[in-house]
Amino acid sequence: MAKSKSVFFCQNCGFESPKWQGKCPSCSEWNTFAEETVVKSKKGFSSERKKESLPVAINEVQSESGKRNHTGDSEADRVLGGGMVPGSLVLIAGEPGIGKSTLLLQTALKYDKANVLYVSGEESKAQIADRASRIGNLNPNCYLLTETDPDAIIEHAGNLKPDFIVIDSVQTLNASWIESSPGSISQIRESAARLMRFAKEEGVTLFLIGHITKEGNIAGPKVLEHMVDAVLLFEGDQNHVFRLLRCTKNRFGSTNELGIYRMEGSGLQIVDNPSELLLSGYADNLSGSAAAAIIEGIRPLIIEVQALVSTAVYGTPQRSATGYDVKRLNMLLAVLEKRCGFKLAGKDVFLNIAGGLKIHDPSIDLAVVAAVLSSSEDLSLPRQTCFAGEVGLSGEIRPINRIEQRIAEADKLGFKSIFISKHHQLSKSALSGKMEIHSVGHVRDMLVEMFG
Ligand code: TYD
Ligand code: MG
Repeated sequence: MAKSKSVFFCQNCGFESPKWQGKCPSCSEWNTFAEETVVKSKKGFSSERKKESLPVAINEVQSESGKRNHTGDSEADRVLGGGMVPGSLVLIAGEPGIGKSTLLLQTALKYDKANVLYVSGEESKAQIADRASRIGNLNPNCYLLTETDPDAIIEHAGNLKPDFIVIDSVQTLNASWIESSPGSISQIRESAARLMRFAKEEGVTLFLIGHITKEGNIAGPKVLEHMVDAVLLFEGDQNHVFRLLRCTKNRFGSTNELGIYRMEGSGLQIVDNPSELLLSGYADNLSGSAAAAIIEGIRPLIIEVQALVSTAVYGTPQRSATGYDVKRLNMLLAVLEKRCGFKLAGKDVFLNIAGGLKIHDPSIDLAVVAAVLSSSEDLSLPRQTCFAGEVGLSGEIRPINRIEQRIAEADKLGFKSIFISKHHQLSKSALSGKMEIHSVGHVRDMLVEMFG
């Protein structure tokens, strides 16, 4: 016998409480509790269920790692760890308008091995068909459904027997047996759980699209992140063409892979040579511009860092950074001031990473320092030079991972020299290459070597 009761959920982290609270004891956010009605089933476990969960010796369990369906999109396959695992649940999260629907629709349109079901609760069939014709490649195996009730979706999917299902979006799911509104914690959790059971039983891969909030959280439920097998983040700057597909959780592969796309009139195109595109506006005879050899995921990328240093108009100088952590910029400016004697306290400093990318790799520090000093002193950096190194609080240059991959990428793009930490132990092949390698221990040494 099912019984309904009213409980309160934190809309930020999914914490459940029998009464309303001002501050969530789990995530410490204020004013996030909302009342929702949940139906508690009193049914116990059946004997069949108990048999299923008997302990089994690990070497008797059949491995499933070999079973993968390729989506037809090489970047998505790589980020998923080699393709879709049947019966897995994948959450794709991103800001509204970034291209989540486009990515999954075009993947569905490319898949020609079996049926695909694209379920939308946000757009009409005509709107989706319009978009599909823009992308081209109208696949007769791709079925559209505008539905928000998970039971109805499961019924149609049962008839159609698709290899994968796309749910656009998880926030529109509306299970009839739950009273809360779509997008609430209990709706999302229960609807996703129902769909998950179906996916696991039938061996269907389920892609759930989820929006993220301004703070970068997947709107509503953290619970969803725990439930799914993989979480992919689709990010980028809407004013730029680049879109990055990153994996933050993957039960079937590594989270190091990165997919790079370009948003064009005919959908998302895979970018094979991202460094070349990122450097297309780069001129190495301008002051304030430096090239950094970074690693995103497991891919080496050469990107341009631009800095502008000018005398502050107001008493408090401005420091602003696009695509880079402004706190880290302030730290590097303090290092330059204190350890290298540059007077930057009265200067405005603006920093920009070209291409709209957000860089978390600390190896970009050295290029940031070089760009700031180049702009501040109005000296252009040595030609065809790039930088890779983390800068510490005393101005020392720290070694970073995969230096040889970075050197190889810089070499491929026609750079002639690179500044790196002196603590790297390079292999003979890297040392005997065409690249001139400047191994330096401190920011001061680098400046002496660059400008004399
Ligand atoms: P969309 O996939 O709807 O984003 P999301 O589902 O993440 O909210 O796509 C958003 C933008 O992509 C939209 O503003 C228009 C643009 N776009 C293109 O530039 N080219 C295309 O071929 C398509 C389909 C969309
Ligand atoms: Mg959409």
